Amino acid sequence: MLIRLARVQDQLRRVIADAPPGPIKIISVCAGQGHDVVATLGDSPRRAAVRARLVEGDERNVAEARRKVAEAGLAGIEVCHGDAGLTDAYAGAVPARILLLCGVFGSLTDTDIDRLVAGLPQLCQANAQVIWTANRTAPELYAEAEQAFRRYGFEPRWADPEDHFGVTRHELVGEPQPLQPGRRLFDFADEQTLIKLGRIAI
Ligand SMILES: C[S@@+](CC[C@H](N)C(=O)[O-])C[C@H]1O[C@@H](n2cnc3c(N)ncnc32)[C@H](O)[C@@H]1O
Repeated sequence: MLIRLARVQDQLRRVIADAPPGPIKIISVCAGQGHDVVATLGDSPRRAAVRARLVEGDERNVAEARRKVAEAGLAGIEVCHGDAGLTDAYAGAVPARILLLCGVFGSLTDTDIDRLVAGLPQLCQANAQVIWTANRTAPELYAEAEQAFRRYGFEPRWADPEDHFGVTRHELVGEPQPLQPGRRLFDFADEQTLIKLGRIAI
Protein backbone atom coordinates (compact mmCIF):
# COMPACT_ATOMS: atom_id res chain seq x y z
CA MET A 1 0.00 0.00 0.00
CA LEU A 2 1.32 3.38 -0.99
CA ILE A 3 1.66 5.84 1.86
CA ARG A 4 -0.05 9.23 1.60
CA LEU A 5 3.08 11.11 0.58
CA ALA A 6 3.83 8.66 -2.22
CA ARG A 7 0.28 8.99 -3.56
CA VAL A 8 0.47 12.78 -3.49
CA GLN A 9 3.84 12.70 -5.24
CA ASP A 10 2.46 10.30 -7.83
CA GLN A 11 -0.45 12.66 -8.65
CA LEU A 12 1.87 15.65 -8.71
CA ARG A 13 4.25 13.87 -11.08
CA ARG A 14 1.34 13.07 -13.42
CA VAL A 15 -0.08 16.58 -13.55
CA ILE A 16 3.36 18.10 -14.09
CA ALA A 17 3.98 15.64 -16.93
CA ASP A 18 0.59 16.55 -18.47
CA ALA A 19 1.13 20.30 -18.25
CA PRO A 20 1.46 22.08 -21.61
CA PRO A 21 4.83 23.61 -22.54
CA GLY A 22 5.69 26.80 -20.66
CA PRO A 23 5.81 27.81 -17.01
CA ILE A 24 3.99 25.64 -14.47
CA LYS A 25 2.79 27.51 -11.40
CA ILE A 26 2.30 25.47 -8.24
CA ILE A 27 0.92 26.57 -4.88
CA SER A 28 1.13 24.47 -1.73
CA VAL A 29 -1.23 25.60 1.04
CA CYS A 30 0.14 24.72 4.51
CA ALA A 31 3.16 23.13 2.91
CA GLY A 32 4.79 21.64 6.02
CA GLN A 33 8.40 20.82 5.12
CA GLY A 34 7.59 20.62 1.42
CA HIS A 35 8.34 16.90 1.10
CA ASP A 36 5.80 16.42 -1.70
CA VAL A 37 6.93 19.23 -3.97
CA VAL A 38 10.68 19.02 -3.36
CA ALA A 39 10.98 15.28 -3.83
CA THR A 40 8.81 15.28 -6.94
CA LEU A 41 10.60 18.14 -8.63
CA GLY A 42 14.04 16.82 -7.73
CA ASP A 43 14.01 14.33 -10.59
CA SER A 44 11.40 15.98 -12.84
CA PRO A 45 12.37 16.78 -16.44
CA ARG A 46 10.09 19.88 -16.09
CA ARG A 47 11.79 21.23 -12.94
CA ALA A 48 13.15 24.30 -14.73
CA ALA A 49 9.63 25.26 -15.81
CA VAL A 50 8.16 25.17 -12.32
CA ARG A 51 7.44 28.28 -10.23
CA ALA A 52 6.18 27.08 -6.88
CA ARG A 53 5.10 28.95 -3.78
CA LEU A 54 4.98 26.94 -0.58
CA VAL A 55 3.14 28.73 2.24
CA GLU A 56 3.77 27.48 5.77
CA GLY A 57 3.15 28.98 9.20
CA ASP A 58 5.65 27.09 11.35
CA GLU A 59 9.12 28.63 11.27
CA ARG A 60 10.92 25.34 11.83
CA ASN A 61 9.10 23.74 8.91
CA VAL A 62 9.89 26.76 6.76
CA ALA A 63 13.59 26.52 7.63
CA GLU A 64 13.68 22.80 6.85
CA ALA A 65 11.78 23.27 3.57
CA ARG A 66 14.19 26.05 2.52
CA ARG A 67 17.15 23.83 3.40
CA LYS A 68 15.79 21.01 1.25
CA VAL A 69 14.98 23.33 -1.65
CA ALA A 70 18.54 24.71 -1.59
CA GLU A 71 20.02 21.20 -1.33
CA ALA A 72 18.02 20.10 -4.39
CA GLY A 73 19.03 23.25 -6.30
CA LEU A 74 15.40 24.12 -7.05
CA ALA A 75 15.59 27.82 -7.89
CA GLY A 76 11.92 27.97 -8.87
CA ILE A 77 10.59 27.12 -5.40
CA GLU A 78 9.84 29.92 -2.97
CA VAL A 79 9.09 28.95 0.64
CA CYS A 80 7.05 31.67 2.34
CA HIS A 81 6.57 31.95 6.08
CA GLY A 82 3.04 33.24 6.48
CA ASP A 83 -0.64 32.67 7.07
CA ALA A 84 -1.92 30.40 4.31
CA GLY A 85 -5.45 31.23 5.41
CA LEU A 86 -5.21 34.71 3.92
CA THR A 87 -5.44 35.45 0.21
CA ASP A 88 -2.50 37.89 0.56
CA ALA A 89 -0.17 34.87 0.92
CA TYR A 90 -0.75 34.10 -2.76
CA ALA A 91 -0.24 37.52 -4.31
CA GLY A 92 2.26 37.16 -7.15
CA ALA A 93 1.93 33.37 -7.25
CA VAL A 94 -1.48 33.07 -8.92
CA PRO A 95 -3.04 31.76 -11.04
CA ALA A 96 -1.66 28.30 -10.36
CA ARG A 97 -1.92 25.30 -12.61
CA ILE A 98 -1.46 22.94 -9.66
CA LEU A 99 -2.64 23.41 -6.10
CA LEU A 100 -1.74 21.21 -3.14
CA LEU A 101 -4.08 21.07 -0.15
CA CYS A 102 -2.69 18.17 1.80
CA GLY A 103 -3.29 17.71 5.51
CA VAL A 104 -5.48 20.81 5.70
CA PHE A 105 -9.18 19.84 5.69
CA GLY A 106 -8.85 17.66 8.80
CA SER A 107 -8.10 20.78 10.86
CA LEU A 108 -11.04 22.82 9.59
CA THR A 109 -14.69 23.13 10.58
CA ASP A 110 -17.27 22.37 7.89
CA THR A 111 -17.86 26.10 7.51
CA ASP A 112 -14.18 26.67 6.78
CA ILE A 113 -13.96 23.73 4.37
CA ASP A 114 -16.72 25.44 2.41
CA ARG A 115 -15.10 28.89 2.70
CA LEU A 116 -11.70 27.58 1.57
CA VAL A 117 -12.98 25.65 -1.44
CA ALA A 118 -15.22 28.58 -2.41
CA GLY A 119 -12.06 30.73 -2.55
CA LEU A 120 -9.91 28.30 -4.53
CA PRO A 121 -10.95 29.64 -7.98
CA GLN A 122 -9.07 32.80 -6.93
CA LEU A 123 -5.85 30.78 -6.78
CA CYS A 124 -6.44 28.72 -9.92
CA GLN A 125 -5.97 29.10 -13.64
CA ALA A 126 -8.53 27.47 -15.96
CA ASN A 127 -8.46 23.68 -15.64
CA ALA A 128 -6.15 23.82 -12.63
CA GLN A 129 -5.54 20.53 -10.88
CA VAL A 130 -6.10 20.44 -7.12
CA ILE A 131 -4.50 17.59 -5.21
CA TRP A 132 -5.99 17.28 -1.74
CA THR A 133 -6.28 14.86 1.14
CA ALA A 134 -8.95 14.16 3.75
CA ASN A 135 -8.81 11.02 5.82
CA ARG A 136 -11.56 8.60 4.77
CA THR A 137 -11.64 7.05 8.24
CA ALA A 138 -13.62 10.20 9.09
CA PRO A 139 -16.17 9.71 6.25
CA GLU A 140 -18.12 12.90 6.99
CA LEU A 141 -14.95 14.92 6.55
CA TYR A 142 -14.14 13.40 3.17
CA ALA A 143 -17.75 13.83 1.99
CA GLU A 144 -17.83 17.44 3.18
CA ALA A 145 -14.69 18.28 1.19
CA GLU A 146 -15.81 16.39 -1.90
CA GLN A 147 -19.22 18.11 -1.89
CA ALA A 148 -17.57 21.51 -1.51
CA PHE A 149 -15.46 20.86 -4.62
CA ARG A 150 -18.61 19.97 -6.57
CA ARG A 151 -20.38 23.13 -5.32
CA TYR A 152 -17.63 25.47 -6.47
CA GLY A 153 -16.91 24.36 -10.03
CA PHE A 154 -14.53 21.41 -9.64
CA GLU A 155 -14.89 17.92 -11.08
CA PRO A 156 -13.22 14.77 -9.78
CA ARG A 157 -10.29 13.47 -11.83
CA TRP A 158 -8.69 10.87 -9.61
CA ALA A 159 -9.37 9.07 -6.32
CA ASP A 160 -8.94 5.58 -4.95
CA PRO A 161 -11.87 4.57 -2.70
CA GLU A 162 -9.61 2.01 -1.01
CA ASP A 163 -7.11 4.68 0.02
CA HIS A 164 -7.93 5.70 3.58
CA PHE A 165 -5.65 8.76 3.30
CA GLY A 166 -8.16 10.12 0.80
CA VAL A 167 -5.66 11.49 -1.69
CA THR A 168 -7.86 12.99 -4.40
CA ARG A 169 -7.55 15.23 -7.44
CA HIS A 170 -10.12 17.66 -8.78
CA GLU A 171 -10.01 19.94 -11.81
CA LEU A 172 -11.44 23.44 -11.96
CA VAL A 173 -13.99 23.35 -14.77
CA GLY A 174 -15.70 26.58 -13.66
CA GLU A 175 -14.27 30.06 -14.15
CA PRO A 176 -11.10 31.17 -12.36
CA GLN A 177 -11.64 34.35 -10.29
CA PRO A 178 -9.37 37.31 -9.61
CA LEU A 179 -7.49 37.24 -6.30
CA GLN A 180 -9.19 39.46 -3.73
CA PRO A 181 -6.64 40.79 -1.25
CA GLY A 182 -7.34 40.69 2.47
CA ARG A 183 -9.82 37.80 2.33
CA ARG A 184 -9.72 35.01 4.88
CA LEU A 185 -10.02 31.52 3.44
CA PHE A 186 -9.75 29.49 6.66
CA ASP A 187 -8.47 29.24 10.22
CA PHE A 188 -7.25 26.01 11.73
CA ALA A 189 -9.79 25.04 14.41
CA ASP A 190 -8.70 24.52 18.02
CA GLU A 191 -8.20 21.05 19.44
CA GLN A 192 -11.45 20.95 21.45
CA THR A 193 -13.47 21.81 18.35
CA LEU A 194 -11.68 19.13 16.31
CA ILE A 195 -12.36 16.52 19.01
CA LYS A 196 -16.05 17.50 19.06
CA LEU A 197 -16.21 17.21 15.27
CA GLY A 198 -14.57 13.75 15.40
CA ARG A 199 -11.64 15.02 13.33
CA ILE A 200 -9.23 13.78 16.00
CA ALA A 201 -9.74 10.80 18.25
CA ILE A 202 -9.18 10.94 22.01
C1 LIG B 1 -0.84 18.27 8.68
S1 LIG B 1 0.41 19.41 8.21
C2 LIG B 1 0.47 19.16 6.46
C3 LIG B 1 1.78 19.50 5.86
C4 LIG B 1 1.94 19.12 4.39
N1 LIG B 1 0.99 19.78 3.54
C5 LIG B 1 1.83 17.61 4.24
O1 LIG B 1 0.90 17.11 3.63
O2 LIG B 1 2.69 16.92 4.76
C6 LIG B 1 -0.39 20.97 8.39
C7 LIG B 1 0.56 22.13 8.28
O3 LIG B 1 -0.16 23.35 8.28
C8 LIG B 1 0.60 24.35 8.93
N2 LIG B 1 -0.34 25.45 9.25
C9 LIG B 1 -1.37 25.45 10.11
N3 LIG B 1 -2.06 26.61 10.04
C10 LIG B 1 -1.43 27.36 9.10
C11 LIG B 1 -1.67 28.64 8.53
N4 LIG B 1 -2.71 29.41 8.93
N5 LIG B 1 -0.83 29.11 7.60
C12 LIG B 1 0.22 28.34 7.17
N6 LIG B 1 0.48 27.11 7.65
C13 LIG B 1 -0.33 26.62 8.60
C14 LIG B 1 1.21 23.60 10.10
O4 LIG B 1 2.34 24.27 10.61
C15 LIG B 1 1.55 22.27 9.44
O5 LIG B 1 2.85 22.28 8.91
